[in-house]
Amino acid sequence: MAEETPSAVTREARLHLMNAAEPPLITPSLLNCDFARMAEELDALKRAGALAVHLDVMDGHFVPNLSYGAPVIADWRKWTGFPFDTHLMISEPARYVDDFIRAGCDVIIFHIEVVPEPVPLLRRIRDAGCQAALSLNPPTPFSAIEPYLEEMDAVLVMSVMPGFGGQKFEAEVLEKVRAARAARPGLRVSIDGGINPSTAGAAVAAGATQLVAGSAIFRNDGNYAAALVELTQAARRGSA
Ligand code: DX5
Ligand code: ZN
Repeated sequence: MAEETPSAVTREARLHLMNAAEPPLITPSLLNCDFARMAEELDALKRAGALAVHLDVMDGHFVPNLSYGAPVIADWRKWTGFPFDTHLMISEPARYVDDFIRAGCDVIIFHIEVVPEPVPLLRRIRDAGCQAALSLNPPTPFSAIEPYLEEMDAVLVMSVMPGFGGQKFEAEVLEKVRAARAARPGLRVSIDGGINPSTAGAAVAAGATQLVAGSAIFRNDGNYAAALVELTQAARRGSA
């Protein structure tokens, strides 16, 4: 049995939960979990204290890997009331965005590298009642997204080249975290890739308010609660 009645949880309530969460909000990336047991994984994350989850959608074109798409997410939505922080690593986000909105995604993130004129898509996402965000790969400068900050609810700074979990954190991107923080203090600043207890502190010290973590949560001992506590403590040391 699911621990809540997901159908009763509205998108508005899910987004409220994300907005109200005390930073840093740690969002487990489901990429490394056991997809054959997803309902159990979602329940285990809930019991461990997670408030939201990060979904990595890959098209084998924008990134050299494939993951899952809207029909799979729609099934997960039947099971859980977790806010879905949805990272579209796909070449044509505008073509598929309505599917992800219908599937129950809450925050929809797409990449500036494939949508150089992002305002119409950001507005379309917000008009549907979702939060909109842009992401940028490590080589992409902050100036690429700077003109659009008012149109966004969050920014996702990639600290690895997207496509795979378990890669090494690229500390140079912290400069972009600082820039985002300074440019619009109310913006949620998320960082994704190589976040673990050794890197979380620096990310938060630079201004990250949301940490995406895959392999640091789905580690061999299966103790998600301990993993979340360790990351939170490391992150708090960064903000102290
Ligand atoms: C990378 C994805 C990340 C990834 C994070 O392409 O966008 O969300 O799953 O995994 P870790 O935390 O293992 O780097
Ligand atoms: Zn991601």
